[in-house]
Amino acid sequence: MCGIVAYVGNREAAPLILKGLKRLEYRGYDSAGIALLNGDGLKIYKKKGKVADLEALIADKVLHATIGIGHTRWATHGEPNDVNAHPHYSFGKRLAIIHNGIIENYSTIKQSLIKKGYEFQSQTDTEVLVNFIEDIQKNKNCSTEEAVRLALQEVVGAYAIVVMDAETPGQLVAARKGSPLVIGVGENEFFFASDATPIIEYTKDVVYLNDYEIAVVNDEGLNIKNLENQEKDPFIQTVELELEAIEKGGYDHFMLKEIFEQPRSIADCMRGRLNADEALILLGGLRNHIDKLAKAKRIVFVACGTSWHAGLVGEYLFEELARINVEVEYASEFRYRNPIIKEGDFIIAISQSGETADTLAALELAKSKGAVILGVCNVVGSSISRITDAGVYTHAGPEIGVASTKAFTAQVTVLTLMAIATAKAKGTINEDTFRRLLFEMAAIPQKVEQILQKAEEIKDISKLFTFASNFIFLGRGLNFPVALEGALKLKEISYIHAEGYPAAEMKHGPIALIDEDMPVVFIATKDSSYEKVVSNIQEVKARKGRVIAIVSEGDVDVKKMVDFAIEIPNTHEILMPLLTVVPLQLLSYYIAVMRGRNVDQPRNLAKSVTVE
Ligand code: F6R
Repeated sequence: MCGIVAYVGNREAAPLILKGLKRLEYRGYDSAGIALLNGDGLKIYKKKGKVADLEALIADKVLHATIGIGHTRWATHGEPNDVNAHPHYSFGKRLAIIHNGIIENYSTIKQSLIKKGYEFQSQTDTEVLVNFIEDIQKNKNCSTEEAVRLALQEVVGAYAIVVMDAETPGQLVAARKGSPLVIGVGENEFFFASDATPIIEYTKDVVYLNDYEIAVVNDEGLNIKNLENQEKDPFIQTVELELEAIEKGGYDHFMLKEIFEQPRSIADCMRGRLNADEALILLGGLRNHIDKLAKAKRIVFVACGTSWHAGLVGEYLFEELARINVEVEYASEFRYRNPIIKEGDFIIAISQSGETADTLAALELAKSKGAVILGVCNVVGSSISRITDAGVYTHAGPEIGVASTKAFTAQVTVLTLMAIATAKAKGTINEDTFRRLLFEMAAIPQKVEQILQKAEEIKDISKLFTFASNFIFLGRGLNFPVALEGALKLKEISYIHAEGYPAAEMKHGPIALIDEDMPVVFIATKDSSYEKVVSNIQEVKARKGRVIAIVSEGDVDVKKMVDFAIEIPNTHEILMPLLTVVPLQLLSYYIAVMRGRNVDQPRNLAKSVTVE
C-alpha cells in the first residue's frame, strides 16, 4: 500500500527520495509524487503511474533541495490520477503533506472547511487533513507541530503522515496511528519511510514511531511527543537488514528470487530452534507459553490471504498433533463479529508484514477481551509483533514480490515447530514420532532444493497453459490449504481465474466446470488420502479435464492417468505442504511471466494492506 519517503539533511533530497520510493514499489501503488523545499519555495510534482513516470516528469527540472517528502499512492479516496496523487498542498500552499491510511471523518471536516472558504483540488481525505492543519495553524497562530497535534486529536482513522512547512525550512513533522512509520537517524540527517528498506543504505539506526506519537526533526535533532504533548524518549534500534536482501541479485523478478531462496529461508527459520540430533525444539519467543499452549482450550488463528492459508495448515497440525480445537478466521470477519473469547483461548495472528490492518484490529479486539495473543510475523519490529504478548519471527528475510512465497513456507515451518513442541509438552505424540518429525523437518530445505531443480520442467508445462482462462486446484487434508494457495498465487499474478477446493468437494458443484478446456491441478502425494484423490482424478479425466498432478517420487498410478506429473520427494505427511506448494509457486510464476504480467507488482495489489 502507499509508501512514504522523506528526507532532511545535507544530501540532494530528490534522487534520494526517488530511489527510496523505488525500494517501496513492492508495496503496490498507482501514482507517485514528490515535494521539495528550497530557496525558490515549496514545489510539488506528481504523476499517475510508476515512479519512472514521475522521474520522466521532473527530468528537465532543477530540483536542488536538501529537504523533501515523497509518496507512492494506492488509491482509496478518488481514482488514481495526477491530482489525487500525493503530496498535497494546503489551500494557502504553505504546507505539503504525504499520508498513508484513511481519515474516516474527512467528510465532516471538509464541509466545515468549505464553509470557511477552503477549496479542494482533489477527492482525497489527505487534502482535507492538510487544510485542517493549516486552518488550525492560522486560527491559533501556532507551530506546525502544534497544529498537527491538535488536528490529529480530532481525526478518526488511520494515518502515517509527514508534513513540510514552507515557513520552517529544515523541519519535518511526522505522526502515526495504525500505519507504519520508521525514522532513520543519521549524522545531521533524518529519514522517514514506511519501512526500513529505503533507509538502510544510509543508516541502520532507526526509531519505530508508535501510535499516537508525533516526531519533529530539525537542526536540533529528533524530538518525539505523544498526542497529549508529553515528551517520549526515542528508542533507537539497529536494523539487521543488508542491502543485497532487498535487491534482485541476478534474478528476473523478486518473486523468482524468493521462491529460490526457500531452502535457505526455511533453514533460517529453523536455525537455533530445531536440533534433531538432540531431539530439541527451542522457540525462544514462546519459552513461557508452550506449556500454557499445551493446556489451551482453543486456538484461533487470525490472518488474511496467504497467511490465512498458513493458518489452515496450522489447524490441521495442531489438531492432529496436539489435539487442540482450532479455528481459522479471516481477520476482517473476526473483528466485526463480536467473537466469543473464553479463558484458555489463544489468539494467534499470522502476518508476513505484521502491519495488515484487519489482523492488527482483530488482535486488538482479542486483547481487549482478555485473550492471550501471540504473533507469527516476518517483519521484525512490526506493529503486530509489538502488540502481541509473545511470538515467533519467521526469519524469511524481506519479501519484496507482492505474491507471498517464502513467507508462506516460513509461516508453515514456524507453525509446524509450534505444533510439534506443543504436542510434545502435552504428551500427545510419543518420543519416536517426535524424533522422526524433527529429522524429517531438518531434511526439508534440501528437499525443497530438489524441487527447485525441476524449474525447467515446470516451465515447459507452464508454456502449455499460458492461455488458459480458468484453473481448478484440488487437494485433501493438509494439501487442501495448499490448493487454495496455488489458486491464489495463480490468480494474483497471472489474472487467470482460479479456484481452490478440497478434492472431495468437487462433486458438489465445481465438477460442472470440467471439460477439455479446464486445467485441474491435483496435489496427489502418497499420504492417507492418496486413494481418494486418485478417484477424484479419475472423475476429472472421465470428463476430459486436463490434469497436472503433484505426485510423490516413484508414483506409478497417478502418472499413468494424468497429462502432466511433477514428482516431489517424500516426507512425513504433516510436512507435505512445505514441499507441495513449491511447484505451484513456480507454475504460477512461469505462466504469469509468459502472459507478460508484472509479476512483482500485480495490478491493484498491495504488499502491506494497511487499510481495512
Ligand atoms: C498473497 C499475499 C496476501 C497476503 C495478505 C496478508 O500472495 O501476499 O494475500 O498474504 O495480504 O498479508 P500479511 O501476511 O502481511 O498480513
